[in-house]
Formats: sequence, C-alpha cells, structure tokens
Amino acid sequence: MGSMSKSVTCGPIGIFDSGYGGLTILKHIRETLPDYDFLYFGDNARTPYGTRSFQVVYEYTLQCVTRLFEMGCPLVILACNTASAKALRTIQQIDLPKIDASRRVLGIIRPTVESIGELSSSRHVGLLATPGTVKSLSYPLEINKLYPDIRVTGESCPIWVPLVENGESQSPGADFFVRRHIDNLLQKDPLIDTIILGCTHYPLLLDKIRQYVPEGIKIVCQGEYVARSLGDYLQRHPEIDSRCTRNYACSFLTTESVETFLPAASVFLDSSRELDVKSVTL
Ligand code: DGL
Repeated sequence: MGSMSKSVTCGPIGIFDSGYGGLTILKHIRETLPDYDFLYFGDNARTPYGTRSFQVVYEYTLQCVTRLFEMGCPLVILACNTASAKALRTIQQIDLPKIDASRRVLGIIRPTVESIGELSSSRHVGLLATPGTVKSLSYPLEINKLYPDIRVTGESCPIWVPLVENGESQSPGADFFVRRHIDNLLQKDPLIDTIILGCTHYPLLLDKIRQYVPEGIKIVCQGEYVARSLGDYLQRHPEIDSRCTRNYACSFLTTESVETFLPAASVFLDSSRELDVKSVTL
C-alpha cells in the first residue's frame, strides 16, 4: 500500500464479496445500470467470512479492496453483509484517507435498511444472516438510527452459506436447515411481519425460504434496493460517476482457480454466457 497512484483514476465499479453471493447483487446492479463497467472480485479461496473474527474479516476485505483499487476502480461496493458489518467503517475512516481519499467504498447494509420503515406494519422485523453479521449488531443499530420504534430479532444461519457454496441449495437436505432457522426466528418473536435476508447467498435459497415462511410475512432480498441506491448515489455524486467507465463490460477476479469459479458463478448469475475470469493471488 502507499504506492498506489493518487492521480484521478477512471475504471470499472468494483464489486467485492467473500465468495459467490455478491453475484446476486451484481446481477441486479447490472440490470439497473447496464452501461457501466464492473469488476467482480470473489475471495473464493478464503470463503466463508461469516464465521471469522472481526480482525480477519477486516484484513481480508482490505486486501481485496486494495487490489480492486490497483485495478483502477474508483468505487468499490462491499457486496457482502459480513464485510459491510465488520470492515466497512474502519476502511472508510482509517484506510481510505491513507490509500486515496478520492475513491469510495460503500456497503450494502444501509441501502437495505432504508427500505424497512415502509415495509413493516407490526414494527417487528426479523434478520436471517451469518453469525458474524448477527453478532455485529449492525442491522439493529442501523435500523434503529432511522426507525427507533422497530424491534429487530436476529437468527444466525451458519449452515446456509456452505449449503449454497456447495451446490446443495435445491437438495432435500437444505429443507431441514432452512426450516429450522425460520422456525427459530419466529419463535423468538411471533410478531415479525418482515424478514430481511441479510446475506447475499440467501436469494439462492429463496424457493425453500418462501415454503417455510408463513404467508403474509414479507421477505426482503437486498439486490434491488442496493442497485437502486447505487443509481441514486451516482446521480448525487457526479465527481465519482464521471470516473466510472461505461462500455457495458463486466469481468471477474477470483482467489480460487478459474475452473472452480466458472461453473459456480454461472449458477449464481443464471447464465451460460462466457465469463471473462482471472485467478489472482493476494
Ligand atoms: N455473502 C456473505 C454475506 O453477505 C457471507 C458469506 C460468507 O460467510 O462468507 O454476508
């Protein structure tokens, strides 16, 4: 660090996740902002982050953000709740001013939380997320800053990310774990009328989640809210927007091998199109 060029850099928007989950966010962002260029970075060799300590998640995330800056990204989205919960604040406040104060790093918790006020009538909201995100209390803290009357109850689902990462999201075995955590959550607070899927992997389990969530309870998937909020952000910040290149391009970096990344990424992107993927070491 420190050697990075501080001249005005133009390039793709960086989208970071610990693994494949951020691809669910990328998909929505590309639908909303199709002409912008994107560089997705999955730290697939070190995923999952959800069960790791604050310090480790922070260090890993900073390494990946730094790499995306080196690749020319003026703006990086942490498309990972765990990284947004555990690393965003420190990177924004401590690291960014030292690396290059003209670039930006944004998370995905705030844009998700903003939607909750108008969705919940009972003012009882549930959160399904990784142990790291639940323990960080980032969701209740952010929600209560905007809506102090909302009560947030969290349930950690440590098995859900491995189920998705291992291609088991449609298997009968997944039903057991999906149901268990939904039941646990609703037992803790039966008045919940809105459930946030606070992990980017969970939309891949949506069919099963819908099956076990009683009718009338809303399920919040983050992608559309994050995409809309990024569009607003770029409109409000022309100094960043003008540095984001627009050639309809999208490429991918992974800390795993290309052979491992490709088939899994196609599942998340729901696409069989050829992807431009490179393997990187940190
Ligand atoms: N995709 C990450 C999130 O949104 C979690 C995956 C992981 O545990 O690394 O929290």
